[in-house]
Parts: sequence; C-alpha cells; structure tokens
Amino acid sequence: MPETAPPRIVTVDLAGRSYEIRIGRGLLAEAGSAISAVSAARAVLVVTDTHVAGYHLPVLERALDAAGIRRHALILPPGEATKSWPQLERLVEAILAARLERGDLVIALGGGVIGDLAGFAAAIARRGMRFVQVPTTLLAQVDSSVGGKTGINSPHGKNLVGAFHQPALVLADTALLDTLSPREMRAGYAELAKYGLIDRPDFFEWLEQGAWRGIFSGGPEREEAIAIACTAKAAIVARDETETGDRALLNLGHTFGHALEALTGYDGTRLVHGEGVAIGMAMAHRFSQNLGLCAQEVPSRVAAHLEAVGLPTRLADVPGGIGTPEAILDVIRQDKKVARGTLTFILTRGIGQSFIARDVPAEKVLAFLAAEAG
Ligand code: GLY
Repeated sequence: MPETAPPRIVTVDLAGRSYEIRIGRGLLAEAGSAISAVSAARAVLVVTDTHVAGYHLPVLERALDAAGIRRHALILPPGEATKSWPQLERLVEAILAARLERGDLVIALGGGVIGDLAGFAAAIARRGMRFVQVPTTLLAQVDSSVGGKTGINSPHGKNLVGAFHQPALVLADTALLDTLSPREMRAGYAELAKYGLIDRPDFFEWLEQGAWRGIFSGGPEREEAIAIACTAKAAIVARDETETGDRALLNLGHTFGHALEALTGYDGTRLVHGEGVAIGMAMAHRFSQNLGLCAQEVPSRVAAHLEAVGLPTRLADVPGGIGTPEAILDVIRQDKKVARGTLTFILTRGIGQSFIARDVPAEKVLAFLAAEAG
C-alpha cells in the first residue's frame, strides 16, 4: 500500500460513545490532525514504554507540535509488570502534574500493556478523561486497543482491577508493525486468526490460502486483515459492551491459554499471550471434536494453519513442560470467567461456528487434558 493510501475506517458503534478505528500506513505522522478532528484537547500526555519510545515517540511528538497541541510524555518500563498499582499511581499523578484538564487527552502509544494501563488511568483521573489508542503491536491493533477493556493486574491475577472505558479514537499505523520481531507478529496473528474461527469462516479460508504471508511481509493484506478483525470485534462489542453475553466469544482459546500463561509464571521467554491463545484455540477445537461437536478435520485444519505460520498448538510445545492435567484444571477453575464453579468454554461446531458453552463438566475437561498431555 503506498504511503498516501487513504486509511480504512471501522466504526465502533456505541450510541453517544462511538469512535473510529483508522487503519493505514503512516498514520502516526498525521496523529495531530486526526486527534484535533475528534477532540478540542489543547494538551495531551503520551504514555509509552522505553522500547516503543525509541522507535516512535519523536514522530508522534512532531505530529502533535504541528497541530499546536501542548504535549507531555511519561515513559514507563516495558513488560507486563508495568500493569500494576505503582505504575498506575505514577501515571495518574503525571496526568495531574501536567495540569491536564478533563477535556484534554491521554494518548497510549504502545502494545496491550500500555493501552490497558493508560485507558484505566484515563477512566479514573479527574473522574474520567478521554483517551486515544495508538497501538504499536499487531495484537493491540486487532484486539486490546478496541472495545474499551482497561485495567491492571493484581497479585491475585491478571486484569482483576479495571474499568470499561472506550477510547475516543484508535490510530492503527500498520507501518509500525515493520519493527516487530517475527515472534511478536506471530503472537498477534493468533488473535487475528481468532476472528475467522469465531464467526468468519471466509476470513479464515482467505488467511490459510496465503493472505497470511502478506500480513507478515507488509503487503496490502495487512490493512485488509486488520480492518476485518476490527470490524468483527466492533460488531461484538456493539452488541455486548460489558461482556454479559456474546463478547465472551472473544475469549476463544483464552481459557486454556490463560491457564498455560499462569503455569509458566507469565514468563514471556517461555510463552507469550498470543502463543498461549494459539495453543488454546487448537485445544478448544480438539476438545470440541472430542465432545462430538465438530468433524475430525476441523481441529486438524486449525492446527495446520497455526503451525504453518510458526505458532505452537500443543501442550508439548511449551518449553520446560506445563504440569499435570490436574494442575491445569485447577488454574482453569480459578479463572475469572468461571461463574459459580461451573466451567465455561468457547467451543465450536466447525470453522467460524464458535459458541459459548456453559456448565462444561470438569471431568470431561480433565479427561481431555489427560489425553492432550499423554
Ligand atoms: N480481548 C477480549 C475482549 O476485548 O473482550
């Protein structure tokens, strides 16, 4: 896609809080005018991490200067540990110290950690400020920057403290993905493929027939795929913003995936979130087949595609091992998506035919895990 191609625009339709996701190459350099078009903010605080700041902060700062917007920046350490009470306090105090008013903006420049933290700080500073997401990873561009889930981790678990707070704008500059490591791209790709597996079989087929290569290499398939993923997510968020129903579909692969992340101590050298989701999605399809819900070729097709991209699909793919089936089930039981002790899974009847299954018997999960571990 040439640098000048117009951005693709996906709208998240939420009555008085609707907003645009703008997707395209080079959007960071035009961020000032895009922000001015949706906000009368005269000042902003950009929150980012040391890693992303080195690559992208100067471009954003120049864009804000060109639009005459007063700017401040807070640069935090990279990594999951930044989604914490101490860094939240630091960020909220920085917002207040910068004398931002309620009509001013917080800008999240980074991946899911920065986006979740910045969104939550914006939700509580001055009883609620608006914020803009500028996601710099594929995972953040197709998932975490869209839909308004914000928050931090607690010693009791991930994402246990937070708020639903929708951004005013999402600017997904797809050129920023050129600086990601192949592993980080693959991890984001798992979340991208998820939308095909939830309810867009044509999208999954397009990906597996070769579009995935263009997504990785920066071809026009990248913008196309991100726009389709964001459209899919926007549709789900518009009908169930606070996850009382259908939004749980977005957790396809996450029940198993979260358990694996917890059992590896959230050690990103062993398993990153997207890799856990890839294994979890492959397992959810095998579990569905094991329960007689879908044909045998469905899980094979899912695993074959994820493996073609270079993603893990089995418990045995986690370096250093993962513990017993009982240990995995124990972590699944503690997951916040377990309601009143019953197990909820996203299962499927075929490619793109996922559904929410409540009351899944624990003994069936255990038997499946034993077979997977064997
Ligand atoms: N990442 C899942 C959701 O936004 O609901």
